[in-house]
Amino acid sequence: MNNFNMLYKVASESAEKAYAPYSNFKVGAALLSKSGDVFSGCNIENASYSLTCCAERVAIFKAVSRGVTEFKTIVITSNTPEPISPCGACRQVMSEFFDDSVIIVLTNNNQVKKELSIQELLPYSFNL
Ligand code: THU
Repeated sequence: MNNFNMLYKVASESAEKAYAPYSNFKVGAALLSKSGDVFSGCNIENASYSLTCCAERVAIFKAVSRGVTEFKTIVITSNTPEPISPCGACRQVMSEFFDDSVIIVLTNNNQVKKELSIQELLPYSFNL
């Protein structure tokens, strides 16, 4: 995938900024828009655990709050043996903004890569 090295660097640097004092599990995301802008995201936890926001959603919400809603690629990384697998809530948020052309790259610190579309990651999603 084009841009992988650049997006991987943004995602892994963002993971270092994760606020994860409860799980100590750091996740980073780098979201590339169709217009060429890159939005980073890290997970942000809370003492009230359910208020935690995942790295993927932080990146998507940053973009949308800037008026950017069309995307090419997202790279998501963590220090896991296998490429990180996004939670169900993030899959649903991705399905709101990603069409099937968006390349979702799941990876890890060893850069083991898995590339998927939103249809593969969340088949039969809820949409209005
Ligand atoms: N987390 C993410 O940021 N993205 C994922 O894809 C999976 C989970 C975060 C949420 C929480 O801060 C920590 O990882 C442990 O669940």
